[in-house]
Amino acid sequence: MPRWETIVFDAAGAADFAPASALDALEADVARAARSLETRECPGADRLGWLDPEAACPAAERAAIREEAERARADCDAYVVIGIGGSYLGARAVREALRGHADGPELFFAGTGLHAGATARLLRDLRDRDVRVCAISKSGTTLEPALALRFWREFLERKYGRAGAARRITAVTDAHRGALRALAVAAGWRVFAVPDDVGGRFSVLTPVGLLPLAVAGLDIDALVAGATSMRQACREPRLRDNPAHFYAAHRHVLGARGFRTEILSAFCEDLRWLQEWWKQLFGESEGQRGRGLFPAAATMTADLHSLGQYIQDGPRDLFETFLCARETAPALRVPAVEFPADPEADDGLGALAGRSLDAINALAWEGVRQAHVAGGVPCLELTLDRLDPRTVGGLIHFFEKAVAVSGLLLGVNPFEQPGVEAYKREVSRLLGRR
Ligand code: PA5
Repeated sequence: MPRWETIVFDAAGAADFAPASALDALEADVARAARSLETRECPGADRLGWLDPEAACPAAERAAIREEAERARADCDAYVVIGIGGSYLGARAVREALRGHADGPELFFAGTGLHAGATARLLRDLRDRDVRVCAISKSGTTLEPALALRFWREFLERKYGRAGAARRITAVTDAHRGALRALAVAAGWRVFAVPDDVGGRFSVLTPVGLLPLAVAGLDIDALVAGATSMRQACREPRLRDNPAHFYAAHRHVLGARGFRTEILSAFCEDLRWLQEWWKQLFGESEGQRGRGLFPAAATMTADLHSLGQYIQDGPRDLFETFLCARETAPALRVPAVEFPADPEADDGLGALAGRSLDAINALAWEGVRQAHVAGGVPCLELTLDRLDPRTVGGLIHFFEKAVAVSGLLLGVNPFEQPGVEAYKREVSRLLGRR
């Protein structure tokens, strides 16, 4: 059972579905895929900057991010992050997962769609707040953030004047080119660069994610340190000792045996946006040329009351990866209540008085896992001893490494997304975009 510091990957619940012999047979292929990443000989070799988290955002760059964050923390209480896909999901995922560690201005997310109601509501809700805007787009031409920036620029210019607005907008974009860079330079906005060799969905530990997270008051050095340490664990040559490789191998074996949907089942509501980030990372990286697993998510225990029936009893073509954090708050214990004499008022839970809610959640997780395995659902498990920046940094690198190996095992280039061009072309045509 591979462990890294605070994260354990356990595949016991999938043993009957992904037998040791099938995993052994894959070991050489996994090693080959991993080697081709290290030697930069795989498809998409010019997109591997994320592989070395320290180099993707070195200490000097992090210091510049912290300086910029301090400026923002000093004069705003609402920080609007404009971006879509890989340009916002990572920051949102980490911010939500580490709620208890953040102390800065509130982060808001814009440019994640074209819904007029949501845009109007946010513009109205922030009317009386001290606002700054961070526009994030690697290409600089993505429709949704480009339109959102127009609204937020106008909002800031009305509120603070043109020069005041310019001091309150920061752009994170391509280091050399693109419409957003040109716009930022012309308007005098501060600019941070997305490294050339890091694609959107792998960019959370670059200025794309780290700037908003630093504004929120999170320890960005600890995030990067966690990822760097996980990188070492994920270079371990033996399949069974390497958390990311072992996870990728299980996914591959299960997929080949007809389990074509993976549900990331989180027993922690704060991980809901991490599930969204994971869905993009795996869906966009693997879903090519008719290949790849469908990445779905369930947030437990809420979704036991909606998807639980399907998971337990529906088509047997899915598997689950459980994600559970052991300590999410200082022990919250169930209060003792006095029941009326009427025996019908007794809900049978009196014995739980004084037990911690985290411990009860862990028992629910164990019960659900046993029921789902018995129902024919292979279950993988990722346990986080706690939710802190170092652990979350480690988890990010774990998933990035796993999807890279997974995509290569499938024979696709996990660092491109050729499929998204089709809809973009159609929408651009309808909008008369040049
Ligand atoms: O992973 C990706 O590359 C995409 O999801 C992009 O992040 C997303 O399409 C936004 O692109 P951009 O940052 O160029 O606006």
